Amino acid sequence: MQYDFDRVVDRRATDSVKWNNAEMLAYGADTLPFWVADMDFTVAEPIRRALAARVEHAVFGYAVTPESYFSAVCGWYARRHNWQIDPETICFSPGVVAGVSYLLALLTEPGNGVIIQPPVYHVFARQIAEAGRRVVDNPLRLGADGRYEMDFADLAQKAADPNNKVMVLCSPHNPAGRVWREDELRRLGEICFANDVFVISDEIHNDLLRDGVRHICFPTLFPAEKNRIVTCVSASKTFNLAAFECASVIIADNTLRQRYQEYLQKTIRLHGPSALAAVATTAAYAEGEEWLTQLNQYLEHSLDWLADFVSAQLPAARLIPCDGTYLAWLDVSAYAPDTAALCKRLLAEAHVYFEEGELFGTGGAGFLRINIACPLSMLREGMARLASFLLQEQNGR
Ligand SMILES: Cc1ncc(COP(=O)(O)O)c(C=O)c1O
Repeated sequence: MQYDFDRVVDRRATDSVKWNNAEMLAYGADTLPFWVADMDFTVAEPIRRALAARVEHAVFGYAVTPESYFSAVCGWYARRHNWQIDPETICFSPGVVAGVSYLLALLTEPGNGVIIQPPVYHVFARQIAEAGRRVVDNPLRLGADGRYEMDFADLAQKAADPNNKVMVLCSPHNPAGRVWREDELRRLGEICFANDVFVISDEIHNDLLRDGVRHICFPTLFPAEKNRIVTCVSASKTFNLAAFECASVIIADNTLRQRYQEYLQKTIRLHGPSALAAVATTAAYAEGEEWLTQLNQYLEHSLDWLADFVSAQLPAARLIPCDGTYLAWLDVSAYAPDTAALCKRLLAEAHVYFEEGELFGTGGAGFLRINIACPLSMLREGMARLASFLLQEQNGR
């Protein structure tokens, strides 16, 4: 079927984090949010149908996780990513962030270093610090062509410190928009494993890809190192199911998996996805492909529009090429180097909510992160407000 991603759906009545948080409520009903990474689109019809049928049944006693859930996850990864996952290795987590936190608790001691690659998804640094571990930055480098690259010499140095036990890899990378190439992932793995650094690969954005771009699941490159890799995936970003709080943590190492399951079941008393989360995830992976194809086409078109808009209306800004994710990363430093202050003023005066680059750590200042997963009409309006604000600033108002 043909999906209509142009359709504007009012989310204000649904207690959405994006539309109903304190900032949004404070600045008036015309405020447009481009921040937190969920989408303003309705889900694929097979997901809606499966949920409706389960709700219609109307008995919601304790549930077990059906085998069909695990085979849907495995089927998706075999078909779409050429990764044969043993269903036994799929562990539950109520979100990727939660999974990373549990893993840090199991893999590190207080004071140990955890390597990340800023500017990067800001929750990593927060959760590492909150767990009493040390954030070790291996900053990305912005190449002359405007694309981000990993700094392997710096990584080798950080990995060689025996106190640094784990690396959290963001693949594809939010917000740098990179879908890492095979040679990059191989080099990263070689450095980490040579130094006994465990890799947690957060691949939550792995289905949101531009035309012709292929994501490589990290463990497929290192079968011999499978016990030093854990991969976190979820249907939540791909299919807009964040409200169900359901992710898969793929742990090949039997001992670590057993410790993880014990932690989940005995320490924090979690047993598996909720019944509705399992229904939504199963339908998504089993029947969501057609919707995803159309979504990726829509996002591609929106990004093309954004690139044209930036070069025509904000010529001093630089849009970083985005191979994957629905998060655009826009360098506006020529207009406003202090993007934290800029974002506050944009919210209060122009009623648009972008996230400031500073939030994403080293190298983030001067950038805005723009969530483009909304109808193009909304993106157009938000960008028009941004451009008019920046140009007025430039002309001294
Ligand atoms: C790289 C990355 N990891 C994890 C998350 C959040 O995942 P979850 O909602 O499953 O905790 C996000 C959300 O934006 C993300 O970008």
